[in-house]
Amino acid sequence: MTTDWIRWHQDYDAPGSPLARRLAVVQRDLRRALADAPCGEDGVRRLVSICAGDGRDVLPVLAEHGRGRDVRALLIELDPTLSQRARARAVDLGLSEVEVWTADAGAADTYQQVQRAQVVMACGVFGNVAVEDVRRTVAALPALLAPGGIVIWTRARPDAGPDPSLKVRACLADHGFAELAFTSPTDARFRVGMHQLVEHPAHPPALRPGTRLFTFV
Ligand SMILES: C[S@@+](CC[C@H](N)C(=O)[O-])C[C@H]1O[C@@H](n2cnc3c(N)ncnc32)[C@H](O)[C@@H]1O
Repeated sequence: MTTDWIRWHQDYDAPGSPLARRLAVVQRDLRRALADAPCGEDGVRRLVSICAGDGRDVLPVLAEHGRGRDVRALLIELDPTLSQRARARAVDLGLSEVEVWTADAGAADTYQQVQRAQVVMACGVFGNVAVEDVRRTVAALPALLAPGGIVIWTRARPDAGPDPSLKVRACLADHGFAELAFTSPTDARFRVGMHQLVEHPAHPPALRPGTRLFTFV
C-alpha cells in the first residue's frame, strides 16, 4: 500500500501532535542553520529541501525577518498537489526567491544543474527508504553541500527495537559530518538531527547521472 502524503500532512494541523512537535524542532534547527552556515562566495545561502512536502517547515522560517531575501531555496517534491501548495504558500509569503520543482528527488539527474547548498533538508525521507538508500543518500550529501554546509534530517524510531537514528548518525560521522544538534524526546518517536559537513573532500564526487539516491518503499 502506498502512503497518501496529502493525508499524512493533515497531522501537522493537530496541535501537540508528534508531527506538530517535530515541525517546531525542525524550524528551530533551520533558524540556527541559516544563521550559522557559511554564505556562498556571492553572499547568498542556498537551501535544498528534498521530498519537501508542502514546504511548511522551510517557508515560514524564510519569511521571518525577511530572511528569504538572502536565501535561494529549492524545494523538490514529487507530488504535484503538494508542490503546488508549496508554490502558492511561497507566493503568499512574498518569497520570490523560492523555486519549487515537481520532480524526483531520488534521481541523481535532478541535481545536475543544482548548485551546492549551504543547507539541505532531508525531513521525512530516511524512514521511508531502505537502509541501503539511507547510506547512499548520506554518502551523496557531500556532493550536494558546500563546505561547512548543514543537513537537517529526521528519522522516527519504531515502538520496539533499536533506534535507527543511531545508524544515521554513525553514517553521517563516517562521511565527514559533525553533529550540531540531535533531538530525541522520550515521549515521542521522532528524532531530528542537524549535522555540519566539516571534512569536505577536496574534489567531492559529483552525483553520477542515471543513478538513484533513494526510492520510497
Ligand atoms: C514524510 S513526507 C515529508 C514531507 C516534508 N519533508 C516534511 O517533513 O513535512 C515525504 C514526502 O516525500 C515525497 N516524495 C516521495 N518520494 C519522492 C521522490 N522520489 N522525490 C520527491 N519527493 C518524494 C512525498 O510526496 C511526501 O510529500
